[in-house]
Amino acid sequence: MDKIGVGYASVTDIEKKYVMDALDSQRLSQGKYVAKFEKMFANMHGHKYGVMCNSGTSALHLAILALKEKYNWEDDAEILVPAITFIATSNSVLHAGLKPVFVDVDIKSYNMDPDEIEKHITEKTRCIIPVHCFGMPCEMDRISEIAKKHNLRIIEDCAEAHFAKINGKTVGSFSDIMACSTYVAHTLTTGVGGVMCTSDTELSGMLRSLVAHGRACTCERCIASDGNQVCPKRLKTDMDRRFTFVRLGYSYRVGELEGALGLGQLERVDEIMGARHKNADYLIKGLEPLEKYIQLPRHPENIEHTYMMFPILVKSESPKSKNEIVKYLESKNIETRPMLPLLNQPIYKEIFGDIEKDYPNAEYIDNNGFYIGCHHGLGKDELDREIEALTEILTGGGYSYLK
Ligand SMILES: Cc1ncc(COP(=O)(O)O)c(C=O)c1O
Repeated sequence: MDKIGVGYASVTDIEKKYVMDALDSQRLSQGKYVAKFEKMFANMHGHKYGVMCNSGTSALHLAILALKEKYNWEDDAEILVPAITFIATSNSVLHAGLKPVFVDVDIKSYNMDPDEIEKHITEKTRCIIPVHCFGMPCEMDRISEIAKKHNLRIIEDCAEAHFAKINGKTVGSFSDIMACSTYVAHTLTTGVGGVMCTSDTELSGMLRSLVAHGRACTCERCIASDGNQVCPKRLKTDMDRRFTFVRLGYSYRVGELEGALGLGQLERVDEIMGARHKNADYLIKGLEPLEKYIQLPRHPENIEHTYMMFPILVKSESPKSKNEIVKYLESKNIETRPMLPLLNQPIYKEIFGDIEKDYPNAEYIDNNGFYIGCHHGLGKDELDREIEALTEILTGGGYSYLK
């Protein structure tokens, strides 16, 4: 029986054509494909500038460092992050030398609960990082209002929600900087990779500098050129600006192959998203009879969920525990993953102590949440297998019994 994975990457002729073209051009460092991808991805998320980098974690790290520099944050600045997210979100705050402060999540959306934010704001708070988990957008109107009231910056972590929308407005466009992962199994993938988007010209320059060792030259022109032209700005100064370093930077770049792969994927966004929406609708319909036992990813009509995964929360009324359900699904070759437990991770217990109990919704999700796949590589047969297995374990009857 074929395995039903939680993630999927599909590479078609269009991606292959662009990657081959990049290879044939012999330009493997950043060039026209990276430039095109950055522009298109940023514009599709409501921003002027995009900067590609080697991971979502790097994107978050540099977003924090750029804001720290621009707004002169102190070294003990506090950054609010949700108590449920992939560990990279809060790790990036630690990597930047700042302090992550956790905010409990809403039990229905699994995202940072706006009602919980203000009680964690102190005079040291400088920024909020909402994470649109599993493809579900956060309540950005309320989060933006709170940020404005307390003069806080916002970085949206959109790693799991490329192209998700709130009232037709794409996630990422509610913040100073949007940070994103394009690692395999994310909705749009470049193999490994990340993107930072902003509409602030100064921030975009800082990001472009930080990503490339802290260099002075940050104009987009060098990246888009074919490598044969020398930008006139470069040699105007005594030292070539491209080899002048003005801040402590990193080597977080990617090259043309990732740019080419990303551009091909971008051109297929409607196809990829359409299949995910169709699959999620099918799963929700098929699992509806089990809703007294499990919580399904439902959302208001003004939200466009992108279902990077299909999260399931086991309710207290369920006759089976999460572990029993997960074991059963795995025995049927249906892959499952825990729903981003964070505060109970051994390393976080070591750093922050036993704080999970202060976050009751996150704690419930840590103990009772898991997700399965609903990606664009799955067809009706696989979705039926997922529905059938959940129905069997929760009711003792097969899917046909419910139909
Ligand atoms: C919410 C979130 N943020 C950040 C990241 C980190 O991305 P990467 O693995 O590309 O560093 C991930 C990765 O899965 C993620 O899910």
